Amino acid sequence: MSFDTTGADNQSGDALENLLTENRHFEPSAEFAANAIVQAGEYAKANADRPAFWAEKSRELLSWSKPFTKSLDWSNPPFATWFEDGEINAAYNALDRHVEAGNGDRVAIHFEGEPGDTRTYTYAQLTEEVKKAANAFESLGLAKGDRVAVYLPMIPEAVITLLACARIGAIHSVVFGGFSADALRSRIDDAEAKLVVTADGTFRRGKPSSLKPAVDEALANPGHSVTNVVVVKRNGEDVNWVEGRDVWWDDTVGTASAEHTAVGHASEHPLFILYTSGTTGKPKGILHTTGGYLTQAAYTHRAVFDLHPETDVFWCTADVGWVTGHSYVTYAPLINGATQVMYEGTPDSPHQGRFWEIVEKYKVSILYTAPTAIRTFMKWGEDIPAKYDLSSIRLLGSVGEPINPEAWMWYRRVIGGNNAPIVDTWWQTETGAIMIAPLPGVTSTKPGSAQVPMPGIAVDVVDELGASVPHGHGGYLVIREPWPSMLRGIWGDNDRYKDTYWSRFDGMYFAGDGAKWDEDGDVWLLGRVDDVMNVSGHRLSTTEIESALVSHPSVAEAAVVGAADETTGQAVVAFVILRGSAVEDADIVTTLRNHVGREIGPIAKPKTILVVPELPKTRSGKIMRRLLKDVAEGREVGDSSTLADNTVMNQIAASLKA
Ligand code: WT7
Repeated sequence: MSFDTTGADNQSGDALENLLTENRHFEPSAEFAANAIVQAGEYAKANADRPAFWAEKSRELLSWSKPFTKSLDWSNPPFATWFEDGEINAAYNALDRHVEAGNGDRVAIHFEGEPGDTRTYTYAQLTEEVKKAANAFESLGLAKGDRVAVYLPMIPEAVITLLACARIGAIHSVVFGGFSADALRSRIDDAEAKLVVTADGTFRRGKPSSLKPAVDEALANPGHSVTNVVVVKRNGEDVNWVEGRDVWWDDTVGTASAEHTAVGHASEHPLFILYTSGTTGKPKGILHTTGGYLTQAAYTHRAVFDLHPETDVFWCTADVGWVTGHSYVTYAPLINGATQVMYEGTPDSPHQGRFWEIVEKYKVSILYTAPTAIRTFMKWGEDIPAKYDLSSIRLLGSVGEPINPEAWMWYRRVIGGNNAPIVDTWWQTETGAIMIAPLPGVTSTKPGSAQVPMPGIAVDVVDELGASVPHGHGGYLVIREPWPSMLRGIWGDNDRYKDTYWSRFDGMYFAGDGAKWDEDGDVWLLGRVDDVMNVSGHRLSTTEIESALVSHPSVAEAAVVGAADETTGQAVVAFVILRGSAVEDADIVTTLRNHVGREIGPIAKPKTILVVPELPKTRSGKIMRRLLKDVAEGREVGDSSTLADNTVMNQIAASLKA
């Protein structure tokens, strides 16, 4: 792994100075504090004995079919087990038990489709659908431990599929619908998925957008592991059909029995794999297991969002293709018996007030979204949300990237009526659940900072050598002790798991983020310190996009950087050297952007591609992305004295002026 600090430049220099002088604080109102689910005493209690604290939370929040007697086992680091001798069924916890407790009529999901169609599922109805899906998948030969690739839009069938897999002990692997056929194929192959669940397609900005063709393309070559493809009819587009392999959701799930008994699975039974970009080309299959993951997901959802399940309406806007859509759409809200909103489309369709219309319609009380969306709303203007009744909102969450203080203040004032606490939540695909966030009834919140480790979570900021840095100083974010929802490994690659996360600092989990303690002891996240970019809260690897570019016959070499972008946080900027035979014109830029879209997915398309004669390299041949970032962000180029050829930056500047 390289330790180029390019990523940390995200909020460096002046911005960092501002961060450190932030002195605005917002105390929770007396009323909010008095009714808060979690009170201040939680920290001391949790940190006195973390494994005991998590065991207590697990017993309180979950129903174990076989109670555990052990909490954490860390005798073989970095491989942890939690609640190892217990047995639990995730779907039973999310569904059946609420029905058994007499809450079957409570709404679980208010679904709002992109064209405006709606569906409501009560807990009783959702339980029935999941039982049918579990029976249907079993009838297709799916068994405990088998892998299921899920390539679906944000529709209730996504949640139903995930919970049906969990119910029978099959391991889901969701592939975001915005990823290409190639990306889907490599994920299907890596996990050796037996079943694929997809849809004909979805809708994007009023138009049909297809999914099934990508599945067909991913499975075009023989030798793959997939025996069946279950297809949800969503947008009604014609689809290609492979007899014997493809089955309609309605014909299998729709006709299946609604009787299905959930049995407990071992606490450490794998629940899901979710692929995420790392510093090398190949995405990592992050593995999560059951008991610990559910415990921390459920606890953090209650504590950070102050969830009162009888009265709150929760809306997490994340797609199920990302970890946020796993932990805070599929699992935690249902485990906690909440009512939630699920929305298929984008914020600007059919108009820029769509989110606020949904908040008003369903009386959303807790909204959880990403800074990139907030910055977009700011750009559109506050007169748009002003047209809607947002008075139901009592808490706002942020996730995915650092939220700049200005966006934080806007969010609080315009959406939160100057009153709703804001919880900025730091976590990762790997951490499974929230790790750093204020407790809204306890913490005095501070614009731009994720602030405090959750009760029971041991976060630290350390220097190059792994020593804790004092308040007022920056370094690398680490986690010093295992936590319940931590990843259990990388699918099929234990060595990569150890190398990536546990080898940089002895005995500590290294997150890949730069961070700083301020003078009050609050944590500020400063962006990635590795070759991972964050575009609109989506993780992209510079290396992966470089590989995609170089796989095009016109490209000789490529270097990619994440350049600061007002709306998306970072934007992908690519520098390419063309092969002698290729012609440099506007077409080549379009061709290369589309090529990346095909190789990885539309979200990875570079915003800018600059054709250059050379790339800046050190004597050992490492590309100095820091210098390219200076160019991409329009700054004066920094120290280039370690370049093998220090005329290169002048050549690049001259070629870009030409
Ligand atoms: C990376 C993880 C957590 C679910 C969505 C992203 C960045 C995430 C914050 C935040 C600053 C944040 C980090 C992290 N990140 N939340 N509140 N403040 N940075 O999950 O795709 O695994 O990405 O997102 O850089 O390492 P992910």
